[in-house]
Amino acid sequence: MGLSQPHGGTLINRWNPHYDFEAITKEIELDETSLSDLELIGTGAYSPLTGFLTEEDYYSVLENMRLSTGEPWTIPITLPVTETKASTLSTGDTVKLVKDQLVYGVLEILDIFTPNKEKEAELVYQTNDLEHPGVKKLFERPNVYVSGKITLIRRTPPSQYSAYIFDPIETREQFKALGWNTVVGFQTRNPVHRAHEYIQKSALEIVDGLFLNPLVGETKQDDIPADVRLKSYEVLLEKYYSQDHVFLGVFTAAMRYAGPREAVFHAMVRKNFGCTHFIVGRDHAGVGNYYGTYDAQKIFSNFTPEELGITLLFFEHSFYCNQCKSMATPKTCPHDPEYHEILSGTKVREKLRNGEPLPETFSRPEVVEVLIAGLQKEVNV
Ligand code: ADX
Repeated sequence: MGLSQPHGGTLINRWNPHYDFEAITKEIELDETSLSDLELIGTGAYSPLTGFLTEEDYYSVLENMRLSTGEPWTIPITLPVTETKASTLSTGDTVKLVKDQLVYGVLEILDIFTPNKEKEAELVYQTNDLEHPGVKKLFERPNVYVSGKITLIRRTPPSQYSAYIFDPIETREQFKALGWNTVVGFQTRNPVHRAHEYIQKSALEIVDGLFLNPLVGETKQDDIPADVRLKSYEVLLEKYYSQDHVFLGVFTAAMRYAGPREAVFHAMVRKNFGCTHFIVGRDHAGVGNYYGTYDAQKIFSNFTPEELGITLLFFEHSFYCNQCKSMATPKTCPHDPEYHEILSGTKVREKLRNGEPLPETFSRPEVVEVLIAGLQKEVNV
């Protein structure tokens, strides 16, 4: 067995730093999300996408969870612009994609359309509730979508994550250099607590390597900032993971909080990075009570294993059991829930922001220490 084939069969490469855009006059201003999407399309993380979705693909993704060419694809990757901007653009135009006066890419416009955002909210997020952070953002972004093939010209400027940014072609090389034939991808937008560690290491028992791939793109206000999380991953990996079997690289996409739909998207992207396996635990990419605990696992039954091309590893809700005196899940532990160490994400963040320690059975003390220190600094600035 070797690393996964890219989704759709070919690793897309639309990065051309030498592209001459001087003669192009029209431009579209990108927001944080579209800038990260541009880079991820350009480097092949979103293969087989070569650009922002056309109207046909948009409805195909909404209604069928597939691109019009048939590949599973569950999150519409779109480029929203205002009506005023749209009125200056035409199909066939090539426009610069700009952020803060810098040209990051160009787009060859295929079509310009007004999306049905109500339908998008219902089908992608399963709710129209503006309290849902993904739905809120969907309606806050402008109301016309522009589609077409992109060329990525400029990479995003160096940041505290630079050392951990790897394109799919690079992660594939790294995994090969490490001698791994099988690699499990792990998505997270949180610090790695004991439950995460437990499912990662359980998965590691059956594959060669773990690709710890925390999302560092836009997240909702109260999530723990990525720079603080990154330090906690570093201490955890250094002290508790076998260096020959773990690789840390960040995922620069924005978090959508689309639960089941986002789980499929997350899996397809990790397949592009070369992963052969992907972990989906409880309420993957969920928020509040919008999704059932295991909906993000059940959604995969809409696709055949061949279409997915990556093996899903599903885990039940895991916790520390004070009777078993070990990590466990409802599958492996016979004891009453009162013995289980379970804290909600909101509670955990609240405690950390107040500088309160978490139980050692919930999170490793070294991790908690780094998180509290990082969050205190955030409070004091
Ligand atoms: S996510 O939004 O990125 O999915 P989080 O970082 O909490 O959130 O989860 C990362 C992965 O670990 C997801 O696959 C999630 O389902 C899984 N997970 C998180 N907590 C648990 C838990 N206690 N038991 C089982 N799986 C979990």
